Amino acid sequence: MGTYTEKWGELPESAKDLERARQSFIEEFEAINWYSQRIEATTDAELKKILEHNRNEEKEHAALLFEYVKKHDSEQAGALKKSDL
Ligand SMILES: [Fe+2]
Repeated sequence: MGTYTEKWGELPESAKDLERARQSFIEEFEAINWYSQRIEATTDAELKKILEHNRNEEKEHAALLFEYVKKHDSEQAGALKKSDL
């Protein structure tokens, strides 16, 4: 999975699921960047609208994953509260 450096088989399931969620979060943000670049690059208004729709769905996917991480990683949730954003 992802870039995890420890022995995957020795990790508890909770750690594996958090890794899956965090890696998926990274991939959603990569997709948002890719769509955003393509939106800026295209001169076709129809394609731009489709790409914007797709990018916005990726933002929703990222939000769902971050909510999962906050729910299952109390330190992450605490860090978010500390940042006061
Ligand atoms: Fe997605």
